Amino acid sequence: MRLKIVAGNWKMNNSIEEAQHLINNTLEQSPKMGLNQLNIFAVPFPYLMMAKTLIAQNDGFTVAAQNCSSYEKGAYTGEVSASMLASLKIPFCLVGHSERRNLFNENAAILYNKLNQLLLNNISPIWCCGEQFEDRTNHNYLDVISKQLNNEVFKLDRSSFSKVIIAYEPVWAIGTGLNASAEQAQEMHQFIRNEIATKYDSEMAEQTSILYGGSCNADNAKQLFSLTDVDGGLIGGASLQSESFVKLISTMHELY
Ligand code: PGA
Repeated sequence: MRLKIVAGNWKMNNSIEEAQHLINNTLEQSPKMGLNQLNIFAVPFPYLMMAKTLIAQNDGFTVAAQNCSSYEKGAYTGEVSASMLASLKIPFCLVGHSERRNLFNENAAILYNKLNQLLLNNISPIWCCGEQFEDRTNHNYLDVISKQLNNEVFKLDRSSFSKVIIAYEPVWAIGTGLNASAEQAQEMHQFIRNEIATKYDSEMAEQTSILYGGSCNADNAKQLFSLTDVDGGLIGGASLQSESFVKLISTMHELY
């Protein structure tokens, strides 16, 4: 069975004390995990080691970085390289979140470089894609996602692509309280899985975890996580309180 994943994307939130409480409370209140579910805290850079240390003995939990440099190393003040993350033994990193694309002008070329840096360093990318509201109203949302796939992750060879986790996050749903409906999410996730089968093969399509993100919360998680082609969630706002994040983790746990 594909790995089921509940990943909390904290974005630029929490003090160190808040971060420690949030992680400790989540660990304390979560059910005991089996082998087929992974819960991820995607925390700001300064908290990565602290988060890793706190969750060390907790099976089924791990950490992710939210970003990395597209460059290997050198005179890039303020950047954090994939090899630095690898030296801290960070297993996952987000790439291509819509906030990075839109606010920091990260285009396909930059994102492809980031994917390569991560994969060279044995870090699994959680690669995000998603259409704007206009793309949905113009009915060209499938084309937009197809283009993002082809210009970025589908440039990877089969063995590199096998390390990628995909997060479909419609931009109009992120932080708006307006989640994709079950029909909209299933249509897109199935489309992405079919595209993977066409590009690579059906085995690859079957094994790739495709997460949904965008106003996913304790109220709608059960419906979204039960969809055939939805393998979990990338959670922003609802990952900032242990109560709601634990509910999401438990919802997945009860389903699988
Ligand atoms: P949201 O954010 O859950 O607050 O909509 C999701 C994300 O940006 O990953």
